[in-house]
Amino acid sequence: MVRAKGMTPFLLLLLISPFSTTTASNTACPTNIPDTTDTCISSSQENKLVPIRREVYGDGRIFDITHRYTANMPSFGSENGLGQFLQFPEKIKNGSMVNVSEMKMVTHTGTHVDAPGHFYDHYFDAGFDVDTLDLEVLNGPGLLIDAPRGTNITAEVMKSLNIPKGVRRVLFRTDNTDRRLMFKNQFDTSFVGFTQDGAKWLVENTDIKLIGIDYLSVAAWSDLASAHLVLLESREIIIVESLKLDDIQPGIYSIHCLPLRLLGAEASPIRCILIK
Ligand SMILES: *[C@@H]1O[C@H](CO)[C@@H](O)[C@H](O)[C@H]1NC(C)=O
Ligand SMILES: *[C@@H]1O[C@H](CO)[C@@H](O)[C@H](O)[C@H]1NC(C)=O
Ligand SMILES: *[C@@H]1O[C@H](CO)[C@@H](O)[C@H](O)[C@H]1NC(C)=O
Repeated sequence: MVRAKGMTPFLLLLLISPFSTTTASNTACPTNIPDTTDTCISSSQENKLVPIRREVYGDGRIFDITHRYTANMPSFGSENGLGQFLQFPEKIKNGSMVNVSEMKMVTHTGTHVDAPGHFYDHYFDAGFDVDTLDLEVLNGPGLLIDAPRGTNITAEVMKSLNIPKGVRRVLFRTDNTDRRLMFKNQFDTSFVGFTQDGAKWLVENTDIKLIGIDYLSVAAWSDLASAHLVLLESREIIIVESLKLDDIQPGIYSIHCLPLRLLGAEASPIRCILIK
């Protein structure tokens, strides 16, 4: 064996050993998203089989603006969140050949879309369910904007935003994102949303057909029914609620949202992404 002068056998072993080139393929653990810290790779877990969970893909070009479904996420009107929404009727651990999960939750859970039948019973009866929503409205260029803080989205606020005619898709980031309401277990009625006059202003003075908001309701608590009724009446406007808009620059994006084809449902979980 060739022995380099002055080098101890131990050092030589380190130089030629594959262990000295251990790959550092670990993904940084997101610090801002709860419920992921135990599943991302920390340096002490390199040899474990651990999935990577991401918020951003494609070298920072693709943003997942959908909230992860977790038992702890807030649920409309609930004191203690969504709760266990997955059951396992079949488990490998119990001798079954496969793992099979089953889910049970309100269709307005997490990031979701409302159909006209949500607030209008005659639209519901006529079949205006989530399967009838226009994918062209749900997919295309749009704006992510910062709504003024410390206020609900009133007519005055809408006016001040100066959204140009021709803009058809707008995602409104609000106090709700700053307050991290979607990461809190308890449903909070002090969220901001559209007031009735804000909704009316949007319908009458803009070309917006896709409205995105960052909490469980597009309408402020005090205007819950009235603002929804104004927005859904024409059946041309689609409302996406509980978007995850943290840590993304405001601006123009290609918006992509796809609901499930739930026949007869007035809402559906939806996966939304932004592409720069
Ligand atoms: C799995 O098997 C154990 C032991 O037979 C049983 O106690 C348990 O209830 C089973 N769980 C499910 C989900 O079937
Ligand atoms: C099957 O699903 C159960 C969920 O109850 C999980 O604990 C288990 O790790 C899964 N098993 C495999 C082999 O994936
Ligand atoms: C928005 O309106 C709700 C009631 O609908 C209220 O609780 C909340 O404080 C308002 N938010 C702001 C910032 O004015």
